Amino acid sequence: MRPLSAKLSAIAPSATIEITEKARRMQAAGTDVISLSIGEPDFPTPAHITKACIDALNRGETHYTAGKGIPELLSAISDKIVQENRIPCTPEQVIVGCGAKNSIYEACEAVLSPGDEAIILDPSWVSYEPFVQIAGGIPVHHPMHPETFQLDDTLVEKVNEKTRMIIINTPSNPSGVILNNDSLRLVADICQDHDLIVISDEIYEKLTYGKIHVSIGSFPGMEDRTVTVNGFSKAYAMTGWRLGYAVASKEIIAYMNKVQQHTISHPTTFAMYGGVAALKGPQECVEEMRYEFERRRSFVLKSMDEMGLSYAPADGAFYAYVKVGGDDAKVAAHWLEKGHVAVTHGSAFHHPGWIRISYAASMDRLEEAMNRISAVL
Ligand SMILES: Cc1ncc(COP(=O)(O)O)c(C=O)c1O
Repeated sequence: MRPLSAKLSAIAPSATIEITEKARRMQAAGTDVISLSIGEPDFPTPAHITKACIDALNRGETHYTAGKGIPELLSAISDKIVQENRIPCTPEQVIVGCGAKNSIYEACEAVLSPGDEAIILDPSWVSYEPFVQIAGGIPVHHPMHPETFQLDDTLVEKVNEKTRMIIINTPSNPSGVILNNDSLRLVADICQDHDLIVISDEIYEKLTYGKIHVSIGSFPGMEDRTVTVNGFSKAYAMTGWRLGYAVASKEIIAYMNKVQQHTISHPTTFAMYGGVAALKGPQECVEEMRYEFERRRSFVLKSMDEMGLSYAPADGAFYAYVKVGGDDAKVAAHWLEKGHVAVTHGSAFHHPGWIRISYAASMDRLEEAMNRISAVL
């Protein structure tokens, strides 16, 4: 038989999913593994959101609907983007996808032509490189500053005539870092000077600890150059709903919609009513979850201090990103095999020598995990 797709043969499977599955296999075999490798809130979806979806099902909202998303959700998203993110937006500039993941992929397809380069900032979330590759582009990696995890002028050295896009992620998975104003300004200037598009992945926007999240799309001159991506998974504990969205110029949205029409058609109709309830309903649930993450974050960072491990500025998201040095994959394997704690090695994020610890787990489990890590160290 002839070989399967050459394009896909070059793409590695998701490291985070692999580690989580290995931990699940160990659990199924009877080992008490504490899984701190997954990027998923451990809270139930708030009841008013679930109810809105059930009501939609009971009303019979179970058929095909508008391709870019139900009008109520497009309006709710554009209102949110104008009010909270200070980005000029109309419902025509919104497309709802099956998770932020789907929206970022569609944006890569919409912007990149074969051979175009996309700059990815390391440590980078596991899926950016495959998105660019599947879209026919060439990923170009650029390291963040090793201590501050911010950007400096060296970024422009990665730009050439083939560069078409920069992908940023703030707050970041895996580092937790929030890009400061200087870093955002630099990206905005480079995009304007070199006619580039920025994809700004803001999925962890609501999970911040003392620092303020700013959207690059709100910078003057960036409205038409920015694809702002967000979703419901992290802020509203809705990972399984597969609901996310992108906001961009009408031209980019029209191209993303071509991909959407010929692939997913649209996200699940009744799930989108849950999305409307999330954005339009009470927001206390978001703050309650954020507060609980902040409590766990303080505990995990204190434990790292006690173990003498240094970590990236943990401004947001729900990750402690810890420097271990040496062969990070070996360290993670050791923690899993000897301590029965699953974490993700930094090489998965193109950043060797580091480990990502997700604190999206109960305080009891985190306490036990920290004891186990301390013992294997
Ligand atoms: C940085 C980042 N972007 C996007 C996503 C995808 O989110 P969604 O569940 O909305 O597809 C994740 C999920 O882990 C993430 O960490």
